Amino acid sequence: MNILVTGCKGQLGTELQKIAARGTQHQWTFTDVDTLDICDKAAVERCFEENQIEACINCAAYTAVDKAEDEPALAEKINAYAPQVLAETCLKHKALLIHVSTDYVFGGDANEPYKVDDAINPQSVYGKTKAEGERLIRESGSNHMIVRTAWLYSSVGKNFVKTMLMLGDTKDEINVVADQKGCPTWAYDLAVALVALLNKNGKNDVHETFHFTNEGQITWHDFATAIMEIGGKRCKVNPITTDQYPTKAKRPAYSVLDLSKIKDYGGIEIPYWRDSLIKCIEEINSGLLRSSQ
Ligand SMILES: NC(=O)c1ccc[n+]([C@@H]2O[C@H](COP(=O)([O-])OP(=O)(O)OC[C@H]3O[C@@H](n4cnc5c(N)ncnc54)[C@H](OP(=O)(O)O)[C@@H]3O)[C@@H](O)[C@H]2O)c1
Repeated sequence: MNILVTGCKGQLGTELQKIAARGTQHQWTFTDVDTLDICDKAAVERCFEENQIEACINCAAYTAVDKAEDEPALAEKINAYAPQVLAETCLKHKALLIHVSTDYVFGGDANEPYKVDDAINPQSVYGKTKAEGERLIRESGSNHMIVRTAWLYSSVGKNFVKTMLMLGDTKDEINVVADQKGCPTWAYDLAVALVALLNKNGKNDVHETFHFTNEGQITWHDFATAIMEIGGKRCKVNPITTDQYPTKAKRPAYSVLDLSKIKDYGGIEIPYWRDSLIKCIEEINSGLLRSSQ
C-alpha cells in the first residue's frame, strides 16, 4: 500500500521511519510540518493525489500538554481540525486513517482500566482537543482506526525517560509524583502495533477505536525509580503527591487503558513496560556512545 506518515520527525514517526527503512511490503511517504502542514487542506489533498495514498498514519499532533492551556486555539487546530481534514481526504480517496489519541481523554477517577467504550471526560485543553479530533474522525464516515496510547517515550525528542536520565546525571535526589497511575509506552512498540493493525486490516472497511500501551500499571514515581535503576544512576527518587507538584494542565490520577480489545483483535504484540524500557535505555546509551566516539 502507499502510506502517508504525518509528523514523522516526532517520537512515533521516527520509529515508523526505522521500521520502513528495514524494508516492508509498503511504499512510504514521510512528512512533517516543514513538508506537509496537516492543517493545510489543499496541501493534504495534493499529497494524497500525487502519492496515490491508500492509508495515512497520523503521528502529527500538538503534544505540549501544559502549553496547550495557553494556546487552546492552536491545539484545537492541530489536534481536532487537522484530523478532520485528514479523515475527509481519506474518505474522498477511499483510504484508511490510522490516528493516534491519548489516555488524557479520560477523567482519571476510575480504579480499573478504561475500556474503549467507557465515557470520556477530558480534564485539560490537550485532552479536550484530542477527544474532539476523535469525534470529528468518527463523524467523517472515513475508514479509520483510532488508537489511544499513553506516556509515550523514545530515544528521540523530549520525554520523561530522557529527562530522568539527564536529572540522574546532575542531581542527588528528585521528587516525583506517586499518586498518578498509568502505563508507559515505548514509541517503537506502538509503531510496530500500528503497522500490524494496518497489515491485518488491509483494505477492509473499519471504524474502530483501540487502546495500545505497554503491559502493566505503575506510577510516575515507579517509572522514575526504574529509569534510574536501569540507567545505572545513583539519584534518589522521593515520592510526592500531585498537590506538591502543581502543573498548568490537570492530569488524570488514573489513566490505565484496558487492552482487551486489541488483544482480541489478534496478531499484536504487547511487551511488558519494564522490558521495553530496558531496550529503549540501551538504545539511548548506544546512541550516546556512538556520538562520543
Ligand atoms: N507523547 C506522549 O506522551 C503521548 C501520550 C499519549 C498519546 N500521544 C499521542 O501520540 C501521537 C504521537 O505523539 P509523539 O509523542 O510522537 O508526538 P511528538 O513527538 O510531539 O511529534 C509530533 C510531530 O508532529 C509535528 N507537527 C506539529 N504540528 C504539525 C502540523 N500542523 N502538521 C504536521 N506536523 C505537525 C511536530 O512538529 P514540531 O515538533 O515542529 O511541532 C512533531 O514532529 C500524538 O497523536 C499524541 O497526541 C502522545
